[in-house]
Amino acid sequence: MAGTGVFSEIIEGEVYKYYADGEWKLSSSGKSVSIVNPTTRKTQYKVQACTQEEVNKVMETAKVAQKSWAKTPLWKRAELLHKAAAILKEHKAPIAEALVKEIAKPAKDAVTEVVRSGDLISYCAEEGVRLLGQGAFLVSDSFPGNERTKYCLTSKIPLGVVLAIPPFNYPVNLAVSKIGPALIAGNSLVLKPPTQGAVACLHMVHCFQLAGFPKGLISCITGKGSEIGDFLTMHPGVNCISFTGGDTGVAISKKAGMIPLQMELGGKDACIVLEDADLDLVAANIIKGGFSYSGQRCTAVKVILVIESVADSLVEKVKAKVAKLTVGPPEDDCDITPVVSESSANFIEGLVMDAKQKGATFCQEYKREGNLIWPLLLDHVRPDMRIAWEEPFGPVLPVIRIGSVEEGIHHCNASNFGLQGCVFTKDINKAMLISDAMETGTVQINSAPARGPDHFPFQGIKDSGIGSQGITNSINMMTKVKSTVINLPTPSYTMG
Ligand code: G3H
Repeated sequence: MAGTGVFSEIIEGEVYKYYADGEWKLSSSGKSVSIVNPTTRKTQYKVQACTQEEVNKVMETAKVAQKSWAKTPLWKRAELLHKAAAILKEHKAPIAEALVKEIAKPAKDAVTEVVRSGDLISYCAEEGVRLLGQGAFLVSDSFPGNERTKYCLTSKIPLGVVLAIPPFNYPVNLAVSKIGPALIAGNSLVLKPPTQGAVACLHMVHCFQLAGFPKGLISCITGKGSEIGDFLTMHPGVNCISFTGGDTGVAISKKAGMIPLQMELGGKDACIVLEDADLDLVAANIIKGGFSYSGQRCTAVKVILVIESVADSLVEKVKAKVAKLTVGPPEDDCDITPVVSESSANFIEGLVMDAKQKGATFCQEYKREGNLIWPLLLDHVRPDMRIAWEEPFGPVLPVIRIGSVEEGIHHCNASNFGLQGCVFTKDINKAMLISDAMETGTVQINSAPARGPDHFPFQGIKDSGIGSQGITNSINMMTKVKSTVINLPTPSYTMG
């Protein structure tokens, strides 16, 4: 159970502690932040409301801890990461329980998130020892006008303190996708978890403590965004920010100083369906891609652009599958569970009502109880409807019927987002041309968008983000290149 057994030291009374300087602590504010269970809509957990002074202390210890961590042999860093991964997987049950209660993630998916996170940490360790175990050796006489008098040795060195801010939908997995690369590369890490998802994150961080990471190297600070959000992201002690979330990321990017940023800010992933597509395959992928975790994934299919001649047939197939989705509490492992908050449910409802008023066809009756919204397919959506462009982050999916592939590509590219997209066709030549024309970070051919496997590059263009993620790219992003040049008095040629 969450907060018991090895995790009993992370909670005092009913309030979870924050983690700093290798210890679980109570905030001097004496205040807490409540975490509302999306299903019951009652307070489930409480976490510390940390102060700006506590943020300052965390930054100081992170800076000190990083200096000696950067001198810790790479193989030892990897060994500790492997240990943390094993401990995390061993304690998957209480962490998954917190995910079910805080973010209404279906029970099985919650366990999968924790296991995937352990695998991700281990992969970071493996990838890091190889990637960072190599540098480059350059000689000067390849550039015009030079003789071979200069040898340049390059290596990748840590950035310093990395600030990681994951979102509510994968609080554990998207936290470790930042923690693993940062630590293997020799950085220290300050984690600011989302309020919903904070308790799962605190448990996950404790697994790093149990693995024996040095004190101060990892910290987890909880609290109100209004109190410590800007203070953290604009803190002079931060040397890199890795953020996943919504348009808050745009504000962070504008306010951050001269530091590397890794930003993933959502998408409006289009699914383009051609006449020759295998419609059963498309329908299965629309269900998985559009309705997994109730559509609360940045990579969810968020608009279907289907050629008119096969639209009726596709809509019928999707409708039949939607009818089979189970709707209810995450504890029962239902397919569709309550969305994260009342404000999110209200926003989704606003998009649905706008589409209704403007004449979209409802393939199911719109139904909502509290934060629980039944899955809904909206056919005959037109570009003047908000849902054609906005990201619902819920189980409602618009279908736009198109007269040509060009129309589909045009709609995809007119979006301010550009995370992923997908195209369904049996003609690989057409698929490649469409993929090249789509202005998105990734295009999936004959499958729904997805971030994983976690070592694949993952990036958005336009408002979807800055930089590329995936394990290898994240390790590279969280390092900088250092060169040493050896200057020789006379040209020297090996064996020359
Ligand atoms: O919500 C954003 C996540 O990065 C999506 O990850 O494709 O594994 O669901 P996923």
